Amino acid sequence: MINSMWSEVPELRQQLQDVQDLILEQLTFLDSMIANPIKQQVLSGGKMIRPAFLLIFSDFGQADYQTRIKAAAAMEVLHLATLIHDDVIDDSKLRRNVETIQAHLGDRNAIYAGDYLMTVYFSLVSEVANSRDDLLLNASGMKKILRGELDQLKMNYNPEATTKMYLREIAGKTAQLIELSAQFGAVLAHSTPHLIHHARFIGHNIGMSFQIEDDILDYRGDEQTGKPQLEDLKNGVYTIPLILAMQLDPELWQFLQGKKNLSDDEVAHVAQQVQDCGGLAAAQALAKKYSQKALVLIEDLPANHYKKYMSWLTRKLLKRHQ
Ligand code: IPE
Ligand code: IPE
Ligand code: MG
Ligand code: MG
Repeated sequence: MINSMWSEVPELRQQLQDVQDLILEQLTFLDSMIANPIKQQVLSGGKMIRPAFLLIFSDFGQADYQTRIKAAAAMEVLHLATLIHDDVIDDSKLRRNVETIQAHLGDRNAIYAGDYLMTVYFSLVSEVANSRDDLLLNASGMKKILRGELDQLKMNYNPEATTKMYLREIAGKTAQLIELSAQFGAVLAHSTPHLIHHARFIGHNIGMSFQIEDDILDYRGDEQTGKPQLEDLKNGVYTIPLILAMQLDPELWQFLQGKKNLSDDEVAHVAQQVQDCGGLAAAQALAKKYSQKALVLIEDLPANHYKKYMSWLTRKLLKRHQ
């Protein structure tokens, strides 16, 4: 199944269907015990925004259809690999409304499943790369993602976590892959250095807004996210709604001093305070700022019929519930 949001853009929906089919083909190498739960995740309606950005930017120049589909699949496969590993780290049981691989098969198999997907990513990127620079771009993107994930550990149960630390962390952990998808799409289409640079900054700003929104949804979302609620807080991952709330409400900051775990009651209390003191609203304003920057940059792009879909997507992601 392709996420229903794409029914508004049939042209991209069809291409994303081809991307999904190609990803499924890559799983036939595996034993069904491990292939089936991965397949279930692939078919469970992930938003596929990274492949979408690759497809959009690869249309700004010349790239053949199969190259675009393979490269878009590579981005989604790398994304899925990081999610599978992330669910091990967060001990998370639900993703895209289905049981995580970690919950279904245990940590060890989930690590192997993620590793296997990394090899699929490498193969697909190698097939489409025009040069060693293309490979280096991808390797450097992966490094930055990992550094962002490592940065996140510094925020654990840390009431001194700052907005600056958070923005640095999400620039790597999340924005980087959206940035890479946009940039690699432009590179594969042999775009001008100016357009490649532009693509990168659009991806960065959308990625920043996207992760802030994801962190808001952890507090405010409902079952539509297909993920457990308040999981970040339960795991001591202090994200922007809480960081801003601690600045607005010194009592909350005081309350969290020295805490190395939070009971269910404490989690409920903190979540309520984050809402009441305006932490969620402040985070929403920050997400909007990044989306606005992206919208201005999109307007500056050369004429292309995908431009309007990009603006549509940017606005939609800011208001999403999943
Ligand atoms: C989840 O990404 C992880 C984050 C970077 C927030 P998505 O929200 O794109 O996940 P799917 O692919 O739609 O499930
Ligand atoms: C994870 O961010 C981003 C990755 C690089 C995997 P989150 O930890 O917020 O992702 P979810 O909420 O589990 O999807
Ligand atoms: Mg997680
Ligand atoms: Mg999250």
